[in-house]
Amino acid sequence: MRIAVYNEKGGAGKTTVAVMLSVLLGVPLRDLDPLATATQWLGRRQPLHSLARHDGLDWVADCPPGIEPSILPTLAAADAIVIPVRASFCDLVNLQATVRFVKSNSPARAAFVGCDIDAGEDEAMLREALAAYELPVLGMLCHRASYRRAGLSGRLASEIDASAADEAAALVEALRKLVA
Ligand SMILES: Nc1ncnc2c1ncn2[C@@H]1O[C@H](COP(=O)(O)OP(=O)(O)O)[C@@H](O)[C@H]1O
Ligand SMILES: [Mg+2]
Repeated sequence: MRIAVYNEKGGAGKTTVAVMLSVLLGVPLRDLDPLATATQWLGRRQPLHSLARHDGLDWVADCPPGIEPSILPTLAAADAIVIPVRASFCDLVNLQATVRFVKSNSPARAAFVGCDIDAGEDEAMLREALAAYELPVLGMLCHRASYRRAGLSGRLASEIDASAADEAAALVEALRKLVA
């Protein structure tokens, strides 16, 4: 399975989602971001999780923000593109550019995952805003301190927080269905 996690916007939740999917799917992570946050996160993990240095059969790619030509081969080779998105004006106002870039550079299915979501109004507002794109919404990762903290110990939020574990499991199941 080849999954690219991308949003043009920084701070959307890409690295958080990419690290989680890579570990839970048991496939290597390809860190395309020069900041190498995912690499540092997984470097704290025991036992170490594998990083893919070359194009392998299976990977989860953590893409950098922006419209970077360097990610085009990754988008083109992916089985699915996961677009993390927050429920805020600043994130939604530029989402159209990300979706257009993904659709014009990849034949893969694209889908959203809501990130850092306050239960209730946030989710309803986000689902309404995303409906215009006619792409599936794989799930919602709620606003939880565990998502911010987990990387310090190289773990996933789902490994230290039962509520995060439930939403992570639902996300993985929805993603498996999307690429089946
Ligand atoms: N569900 C969440 N709850 C709380 N904080 C979150 C959540 N998801 C992401 N974050 C935090 O938001 C910030 C940006 O997330 P990150 O994954 O680095 O985004 P990106 O890779 O798109 O720049 C980080 O500080 C991360 O810990
Ligand atoms: Mg990142």
